[in-house]
Formats: sequence, structure tokens, C-alpha cells
Amino acid sequence: MSLLGCPIEDIDTPALVVDIALMENNIRRMSEFFADKPANLRPHTKTHKTPILAHKQIAAGARGVTCAKLGEAEIMAAAGIRDLLVANQVVGTLKIRRLVALAHHCEIIVAADDAENVRAISDAAVAVGVQVGMLVEVDVGMQRCGVPPGQPALDLAEIIDQCPGILFKGVMGYEGHIIGEPDDETRYAGCRTAMTLLTETADHIRRSGLDVPIVSGGGTGTYKVTGTFPGITEVQAGSYVLMDATYQKRIPEFDCALTVYSSIVSRPSEVLAVADAGLKTMTNDMGIQTIRDVRGAELIRQSEEHVKIQLPGQSCALRPGDKIHMYPSHVCTTMNLHDRIYGVRDGILETIWDIAARGRSH
Ligand SMILES: Cc1ncc(COP(=O)(O)O)c(C=O)c1O
Repeated sequence: MSLLGCPIEDIDTPALVVDIALMENNIRRMSEFFADKPANLRPHTKTHKTPILAHKQIAAGARGVTCAKLGEAEIMAAAGIRDLLVANQVVGTLKIRRLVALAHHCEIIVAADDAENVRAISDAAVAVGVQVGMLVEVDVGMQRCGVPPGQPALDLAEIIDQCPGILFKGVMGYEGHIIGEPDDETRYAGCRTAMTLLTETADHIRRSGLDVPIVSGGGTGTYKVTGTFPGITEVQAGSYVLMDATYQKRIPEFDCALTVYSSIVSRPSEVLAVADAGLKTMTNDMGIQTIRDVRGAELIRQSEEHVKIQLPGQSCALRPGDKIHMYPSHVCTTMNLHDRIYGVRDGILETIWDIAARGRSH
């Protein structure tokens, strides 16, 4: 029997619930920010992994989507999204075959930081008669992937430009080393340093005669800087659409639209309750999560299937069977644990969406 149209209390737990009105507001707020900026928003789907949400972002003005993995891009393309950036390296024969196969069905751009990988992608693309778009990934301080800024990026851009199976599209650099910095000024100053490295690299490449149409960086924690930084053409923010308790402390203009809906399963003492939202339901890689509507209560510890809640005392009436909402501390990794998301408006279940790209880490 369908639960659509039923009150939220009928949803069994644990479950992921999105407040659709809050989510729509987040989408609107971000698209209004970008409406008069030269940079485009290309939202990162690693946050929601849900094609209908990508379509909503595009309908609100986003230019295509960013994906973390090829598997995510395949799901988005199958759902009709035509403009995709995989902001990661696609390495190895099997994956490269999948990449060039995908290029038959959409415009796909991929990041690269290695000449041998570039040539392997070009050869595979030529073999099936397609061209793949490519960005040089530049290490702007995160020390993860990417070539150093300046000449090494130009060297790789020139190799890409010579490859018949590839279209050189520009550069990307993700300022992940600074994006979680709590202090606004420090975060924004670090972001400006990173984006200076990226835009100067783009200019260096242009001086060699190559076109650099895309200069891509940024996330939710820095969109105000990256979205207005001269020379940045695309911003990859993703978390803003659903948000989480960690980001919300720093970027309060977006609401936490996603909650983990959970049942109390035990009340062993006046000061302790236990709910069914363990590590297999809600991640803690960004720290302990936040309980939404029980005054004075705090989540204190998770195990696989349980979370312990410290209560203010006897005055708290929580009993086994009661349901509560919690804000995840990291939306992206929590979404990846679930098959579906329950969309609620004014307390009524309006829709259930498949998180179709969850687990697509290949
Ligand atoms: C390549 C890349 N771009 C952008 C982002 C930003 O996403 P968010 O909106 O969560 O800050 C991330 C986050 O991990 C990322 O890895």
C-alpha cells in the first residue's frame, strides 16, 4: 500500500526525510545568487545522487551537473541530463571504455592530471568515434589530485590539445583544504589564494594561444567568493541543496532540509534514550549529529544500529516508539547509505525518490 498522502508519522524508521519546501528554497536562493553573476552554477550531484534533484537544479538555472564518479555520471545521463562534468580522474581500461561509451549520449567532461591517462582516453575515444571534453586539474593547495599551477598545467593542456579524441575545455581546482574552515575571513582569504592560482594558470594557458572556456572550482562553503571571483566560470557547490548540521553553522543562509527520521527503541534511564539511527543509517565522519526537536537532548555515541541520546532528565517524556528527527553532520556520505528519500511537505508524505546513484563509487 502506498504511503503517499499519509502523515509523516506513518513512515517507518530509520528513513531519510527531505522537507521539500526548505529544499526548494535552498535551490531558489542559490540560483538567485548566480542569476546576475558571470559564473555559472554546476551543482555537485555527489550530495544527493538523485536525478530528479539534478533536474530541479537545472530547471532553476544551473548549467549541467558535476559528478564525483563515472558511475554517478552514468546514472545522471540515463536520467536525461546532457551536460556532465566528472570532477575526478577516470583511470584504467574498463573505466575509460565506459567513459567513451557515455560520450555517445551526452556532453561529458572529465578531469585529468596525467599525460598517459590523457592519451589512453584519447585513443579509446578515437576507437569509438567520439570526443571527450577534458579539464586539467590543478592542485590549488589541497594536495590531493592535480598538477601544480602554472607551467605544468600548460604542459598538460598542450598534450590534451594535441589528442584527437579529446577537446580541451579548461581547468579545475578544488579548494578542499580550506572549505571547512570555520572562520569566515580565513576561509575566504584561503579561497581567494586558491582561485588566484587557478585563474592565473588559466591566463598562462591562454597566453600560449589555447582557449580556456571553463575555469571551475568552489563549493558551498566558498560559493560567495568563487561565484564572484574574476575569471571563475563555474562553481561546483553541492551541499547547499540539502545541507547538514556542520555546514549550516558556517553557511546559515541555507536551511537543513534533510533529516534522519528515527524511532526511540529503548529508554534505559531518566537521562538516556536509544534510537535506531546507527552508523549504517547516518555517518559520523564529520562528527556527532544534532537532534532536531528534543530540547536539551544531545546525541552522544553511535554504534552500528543504535545512537545513544543524553536527555535532560525525567522531564523528557521520550518513550520507545516515539519518532524524532536528527540533522546529519555530513549529508553526502549519509545519502549514500540509503536507497530512497521521503519527500514531505507540511507534514504529509508527498513523494518518494530513488537515490539512484547511491553506492555508484566505481
Ligand atoms: C571536486 C569537488 N568540488 C566541489 C565540492 C564541494 O561540495 P560542497 O558543496 O559539499 O562544498 C567537493 C566536495 O567534496 C569536491 O570534492
